[in-house]
Amino acid sequence: MSKIGEDKISNAYHDSKNIYNGVLTQGNIFARAYIKFFWGGTDDVAIAQKLLSFIPDDFSGTILDVPCGTTVFTAEKWLRLKNAKITCLDYSADMLQQARQRLDGAAHITLTQGDVGQLPLENQSVDVVMSMNGFHAFPDKLKAFDETCCVLRPGGKFIACFYIRGKLRRTDWLVRRILAPKGWFTAPFHTETEIGEILSARYSKVEIHTDNAILWCVCEK
Ligand SMILES: C[S@@+](CC[C@H](N)C(=O)[O-])C[C@H]1O[C@@H](n2cnc3c(N)ncnc32)[C@H](O)[C@@H]1O
Repeated sequence: MSKIGEDKISNAYHDSKNIYNGVLTQGNIFARAYIKFFWGGTDDVAIAQKLLSFIPDDFSGTILDVPCGTTVFTAEKWLRLKNAKITCLDYSADMLQQARQRLDGAAHITLTQGDVGQLPLENQSVDVVMSMNGFHAFPDKLKAFDETCCVLRPGGKFIACFYIRGKLRRTDWLVRRILAPKGWFTAPFHTETEIGEILSARYSKVEIHTDNAILWCVCEK
């Protein structure tokens, strides 16, 4: 496993584990106020549902969920896709432990601790890479874009959402002054234009949308 930021990443998510799911899912009034003020009200749950809707309910191929975190957004869908083969990968043992509790030993789902920059999967072995809220946390983002593309089969889909710089000044301030120093986000952060170039260099079809400072995309290799 890469040593880059190892302590920083695992400690950051260990410390936050009790509030993490509540904030992402706007589970209480404070989380809703935080999202409204700092993120322009962008609804992570709605974006997650949109991304998951690109995978049909009778899907029977292979999926990589990276970083899976606690699987707060994905567990329900993954549990329903009984004919799929799903790998949930994350760097943090604490996040994986919470994911394990949600997924409750489902035989078609494997939980793996690892680095997105060094994926323990064969090249061209995956049909869908699902990456929610990860790229703003990864230290080596270009390596992560390369690795996730490498493991996809030709025709496979890269489906993702993450923070981008330059859309909302309040969000950029929050990221620069709080989230990055805390270790929850890791610089450098890309703009929408830069992400367009990065994805177009790796995928034959690229569809990009933005919702305030969150970019979501569906790409085909
Ligand atoms: C904001 S969470 C997102 C998790 C989940 N997809 C979600 O939307 O709730 C970011 C995750 O990235 C993981 N992470 C950070 N760097 C990583 C790396 N190099 N390889 C794999 N996972 C990493 C962290 O452990 C954390 O669980």
